[in-house]
Amino acid sequence: MYFIQLNQMFNFWKATIMTKKKLTTASGRPYSEKQDSMTAGPRGPILLQDYYLHEQMAHFNRERIPERVVHANGSGAFGTFKVTNDISKYTRAKLFSKVGNECKVLARFSTVGGEKGSADTERDPRGFAVKFYTEDGNWDLVGNNTPVFFIKDPKKFADFIHTQKRDPRSNMQSQTMRWDYWSLNPESLHQLMTLFSDRGTPDGYRKMNGYGSHTFSMVNDKNERVWVKYHFKTLQGNHTLTDQQAEELKGKDPDYAQRDLINAIDSGDFPKWALKIQVMTEEQAKSFRWNPFDLTKIWPHGDYPLIDVGVMELNKVPDNYFAEVEQAAFNPSNLIDGLDVSPDKMLQGRLLSYPDAHRYRLGANYEQIPVNRPICPVHNYQRDGAMTVNGNHGSAPNYHPNSFDDIEADKSHKVPPMKLESDIADFYDRNENDDDHYTQPGLLFREVMNDQEKKNTISNFVGAMSQIDGPKRDEIINRQLGHFAKADKELAMEIAKGLKFDFKA
Ligand code: HEM
Repeated sequence: MYFIQLNQMFNFWKATIMTKKKLTTASGRPYSEKQDSMTAGPRGPILLQDYYLHEQMAHFNRERIPERVVHANGSGAFGTFKVTNDISKYTRAKLFSKVGNECKVLARFSTVGGEKGSADTERDPRGFAVKFYTEDGNWDLVGNNTPVFFIKDPKKFADFIHTQKRDPRSNMQSQTMRWDYWSLNPESLHQLMTLFSDRGTPDGYRKMNGYGSHTFSMVNDKNERVWVKYHFKTLQGNHTLTDQQAEELKGKDPDYAQRDLINAIDSGDFPKWALKIQVMTEEQAKSFRWNPFDLTKIWPHGDYPLIDVGVMELNKVPDNYFAEVEQAAFNPSNLIDGLDVSPDKMLQGRLLSYPDAHRYRLGANYEQIPVNRPICPVHNYQRDGAMTVNGNHGSAPNYHPNSFDDIEADKSHKVPPMKLESDIADFYDRNENDDDHYTQPGLLFREVMNDQEKKNTISNFVGAMSQIDGPKRDEIINRQLGHFAKADKELAMEIAKGLKFDFKA
């Protein structure tokens, strides 16, 4: 299991042994002594002039950057994406202009709530973020391994995430916080059904699907828009861990998913996913039973079948994790011509949140970091800022309009206007169908899960909910069972039985 890491060191040693290099400071001054500090006399004290020592200590003190506020623990790999089916009638994106087109990708998989270094097998959604380096710029599809999410309004995100992190006093994770929140936000039910099935503990990152989850849009060369959902189907087969297996692995091998991904790629067993889309026309959207932009709902595959797009293969482990994975900045607003957004409120919120997070975590010029840099030329009037390392556009004019360069805003990339439902700004109450948090979770339980999956899901719910404690315990459990009952009575009664809780549906 551990052999790959040893081989890496050996390969590095073989590759570098022939070329002797001098140890230097960051400014290039050669070291004459690496182990001992410069002292007055053999027993010290240390002299202030030992800059080698200062530089080393000072740089070390600055090694940590803020971890991602969510999805801190993750693994990444490079690879390629290849178009296998013609979808050019939906999009004018050059990447999809013909079958056989290819581009480089970076994928990063992650857990959500845990800190960097937390266990890979926690029950949690998995992040599934892909950066496509296309000739038209970077397209980032920043999804999860679940097609829906816990909430449908970005205003709820920070509070929801607080419940997944640590209790302010005990500094421990708390099932009481989680179920209190979920039971007060029944729109989370659909996501909970997936999270507490064994899909909530996937067997590593290779054997799970990915979903763009939101409704996005595509725009074709006639400037027509369709609504789109993205699906990455694993070609390794869907494999999950039972709750018990996941718990055991947390202790035995907290880096289980990272190790699985690296070992597979390093041994030539390159993981692959088929990218597919669902398409809904603007007309169909008007009569869809639910709000088509509601992130807590799926589009039934029977009505909106999957259409093949291409295949992603991961075939290279980044040489340096910090440089190419920790510093990777994925951003749902990184779109390319022909791929666009939708009114989905969560997506709209994320368009702002991610670049803001990157500016805090990596700095204003995060797009200049090599792993984030687009492969196409970048022309704009952004200048200066900490860590400007791209030449800062040299002597080119730094204002627009000007009489000296020929940079223009190209109107051919304009997308069609989005028709709004209303022009009245307000905090809208949801309509009846938007508050249907129960039909799809019920269908998932009754019609998608087999008997074993149902059994495991119930047992996983019982395991987590039995940890709810404190004076509000009964109130929280009762409220949550009420939601389960609205989705499926048997589900609620079985969980109540497992909890030995007196519940009347
Ligand atoms: C990471 C915000 C919903 C998938 C992040 C980060 C923030 C954030 C601030 C850290 C970015 C960084 O520091 O690099 C939000 C907000 C949301 C939301 C405000 C809702 C309004 C979602 C949803 C999905 C998702 C619905 C999936 C469909 C991810 C993934 C990452 C991430 C995969 C990690 C990206 C990486 O690997 O670097 N999110 N998020 N998020 N989020 Fe969200």
